Amino acid sequence: MNLARRRRAKAVVLAVLCCCLTAWLCRLLLRPASLRASIVLTAFETTGLRPDWLRAICERYSSPEYAHLVEEVILVWNNPAAALPAGLPHSVKVVRSKENSLNNRWLAARNIRNPVVLAHDNDLVLNQAGIRCLLTVWREYPDRLIGPYARQRVDLDYVLDDLVSRPAPYHFILPRALVGASSALAEYGAPELAPLRDYVDTQAAHCDDLLLNLVVADLNQRPPLRVALPPASVSDYASVCSPLDRSLSSGLADQTSRSRLRTDCMQHFLSSPPFSLDASSPSSSQVAVCDADGSAYTVTNHVSLRRWRDMENGTAASLCPDLAARHLPPPPPQPKQATALRSELEEYCQPVDSARIEWLDALVDLKVCDAPADEPPDPGLVPSAQHQCGAWCVWDLRKPSRAGWRLRPGVCWERFEDGHADWCGEWFWQRPRFNLEDS
Ligand SMILES: *[C@@H]1O[C@H](CO)[C@@H](O)[C@H](O)[C@H]1NC(C)=O
Repeated sequence: MNLARRRRAKAVVLAVLCCCLTAWLCRLLLRPASLRASIVLTAFETTGLRPDWLRAICERYSSPEYAHLVEEVILVWNNPAAALPAGLPHSVKVVRSKENSLNNRWLAARNIRNPVVLAHDNDLVLNQAGIRCLLTVWREYPDRLIGPYARQRVDLDYVLDDLVSRPAPYHFILPRALVGASSALAEYGAPELAPLRDYVDTQAAHCDDLLLNLVVADLNQRPPLRVALPPASVSDYASVCSPLDRSLSSGLADQTSRSRLRTDCMQHFLSSPPFSLDASSPSSSQVAVCDADGSAYTVTNHVSLRRWRDMENGTAASLCPDLAARHLPPPPPQPKQATALRSELEEYCQPVDSARIEWLDALVDLKVCDAPADEPPDPGLVPSAQHQCGAWCVWDLRKPSRAGWRLRPGVCWERFEDGHADWCGEWFWQRPRFNLEDS
């Protein structure tokens, strides 16, 4: 081989190598970095069921299966007087609070370098598709709070409605499960907000989440974005296990007069600078609906009741087997006939405890009081009840008035047309704020 040919061969090899290197570098730089969440949990309880739930949640998120979605698990331990529950995974980073304050869970964001935080209550756990969904949506809306549970205000009234019955504008994402930029969450700690953080500590509605929503919306002048998580992606201890024994799992939300307190709190925050109604509390009606594995979504204004209820997975027997064994009735020797009506009702409203089973039975078996035996069941009752899972006072959603049915257990459904002074009246706030005719 002569010298010239050798040189040419060398040049070709070099050029090919260069090309390869450039292509590899380009791929490295252009590939979206894999996004992982810093999970922030907050806990206080040392007795009852919550320490067990906390352990199960920490174990799940610290496991190798979640490593591609979870950067770190941070536990804000809000009980300075007590030791941590035993048996938490060693990898969990514990932040010990000096005092029990809900502010601590957002203040923790100031020390998080990872760009995205997933905060949630210690009474539910998400599967991988659920976390992937939240991250997929957040990646395209990094300046908003993202999450499945939302609330609205009507002017200056805070509304407790779950907003699963119909498309509805919403203003707040609840911290039951919520994703946001750590830099935005860290704004919660701004020095000028100190008086409002103090208010959170003294006001009974636990409204740190309202303050957080205002902080983040105000920062970017954008509403939050609600997400319908993939089907079966949420195991919700609070809705499945808590009803079996309230004394073991009392949550912050078990309060009477809650809607008034939340309203007071919201009005307090919005009544003076730095916040204002339009800039700090904008609304949206859009929902990002995730596909089954959470890697894609579509944005829509309408999500059906069934799709919302589909998010949940898990029965008492799988989430809290001991409680289920103690409090759920043994399966009947003759399994209940799965009538079409019963199956349909259970799709909307799981038979989570004895009271719920009795309620489902009542819808299938009982008539309206004083109705003749051969009369068909009231056509308004079941469609209304689907939106008022487990309620013993079912409001008639065909009418805007205070009409409805009161369950007389084991006997009949008592119809009332204009309020119900001695029983249902005080539960009118639970009526979903929409009419079946309009939807
Ligand atoms: C639903 O829960 C069951 C029992 O806990 C579990 O085996 C199953 O994988 C869960 N489904 C999803 C989609 O996570």
